[in-house]
Formats: sequence, structure tokens, C-alpha cells
Amino acid sequence: MATLYLKDDNIKVKVQPGMTLRQVAMKVGASMEFGCRVGDCGTCIARVVQGMAFLNQITSKESAVFKMLDQTLEDNRLMCQTVVESQEGEIVISYTTL
Ligand code: FES
Repeated sequence: MATLYLKDDNIKVKVQPGMTLRQVAMKVGASMEFGCRVGDCGTCIARVVQGMAFLNQITSKESAVFKMLDQTLEDNRLMCQTVVESQEGEIVISYTTL
């Protein structure tokens, strides 16, 4: 299984492929807050510090939210729209996007 490290909470957890970062964060009691949970509000923006290759492609909802918020995508993702696709690898997430 892939490993997800939530840097700001110092939580490291094994992740089943198919789970969103939101699902994992909520399961382990991470401090990240979530609003709509469906990719509309932008509350769950986080930065992928490492492991973007192990995640799904950026969705059209993410592109729309980043455009609405006038933010660049770069390494940023919406945790509720980002799915772990790999069986292995290490993904590191920071809630700070700057
Ligand atoms: S919780 Fe609203 S966009 Fe992720």
C-alpha cells in the first residue's frame, strides 16, 4: 500500500488505492477542515509536497475552483477530489499552500 504523510499533523498512514485524501484525513482525525466535500468550495486546498505521480489527474472541478479562487494549481490539489491511485509510494501533503 502507498503511504500518506500528513505533514502538518505529523500523521503517517497506509492508504488503500481508491481512497480520497479527504477520506484518509477524516479517518485518521487530521486537523484539515472540509466544507462541501464535493469539490465546489475550495476549503480543502493542500499542497502535494511529494508523490503527485501516485494520485489521480487533476479534475475539472479542481481546475474550476482554482480559477474561481484565482490560485494556480502548481502542486496544489483539493483533498476531497484527489484519489490515491498507486499501490505503493510515499505521498506527502501540507495544508499550507504558499
Ligand atoms: S471540501 Fe469543498 S472543495 Fe473540498
